[in-house]
Amino acid sequence: MGKIISNFSDFYRPNKQQEEDTLSESAFQAYWLLEESLLSQNIDLHLELGSKNRVMLFKNEFVQVLVNIINNAREQFEEKGIVDAQISIKSYDMQNIAVMEISDNAGGIDEEIVDKIFDPYFSTKFDKNGTGLGLHMSKNIIKQHKGGKLYVENIQGGAKFNIEIGISGEEDEK
Ligand SMILES: Nc1ncnc2c1ncn2[C@@H]1O[C@H](COP(=O)(O)OP(=O)(O)OP(=O)(O)O)[C@@H](O)[C@H]1O
Ligand SMILES: [Mg+2]
Repeated sequence: MGKIISNFSDFYRPNKQQEEDTLSESAFQAYWLLEESLLSQNIDLHLELGSKNRVMLFKNEFVQVLVNIINNAREQFEEKGIVDAQISIKSYDMQNIAVMEISDNAGGIDEEIVDKIFDPYFSTKFDKNGTGLGLHMSKNIIKQHKGGKLYVENIQGGAKFNIEIGISGEEDEK
């Protein structure tokens, strides 16, 4: 790929600092990291980044979460042999939160497993070296952003992952 992605071990580095940024900026970074490989796989990535709220982010970790979610979609496209593969990343602001939605048209998540995909070691890809930790760790990382939320819903033709993070300046008193 030629571009280096910081790995999860970084997340446990002590003293890592949150930095103020927008969700949109992180989406551009994930896009930049994955652009070549998405193109080579003929996946159309659509960005609609309207969020301007500033949030406190563990930037590397946050970008890694986006990479995880996008890679899951890619793996699903391959698994299902989807030809008009599309991923859309959208961000927007609500009153006190910034929201990001990552959706795909890879067929969605089977109802029998949809409640388990954030569990540690849950994977349908053990035969392809899946660890089943990707979404579990992603959820933990998002939670470390002021109790942020990561959840999934099935949409028409695919899955949509939602991230919600409280805006900076609304710090809980400590
Ligand atoms: N976009 C998606 N569409 C359909 N199913 C998905 C999607 N994203 C995740 N899944 C399902 O959720 C499971 C868990 O995902 P998770 O990323 O935690 O683990 P994994 O991809 O199997 O392995 P790894 O830890 O290496 O990422 C996947 O095995 C897959 O079955
Ligand atoms: Mg994964």
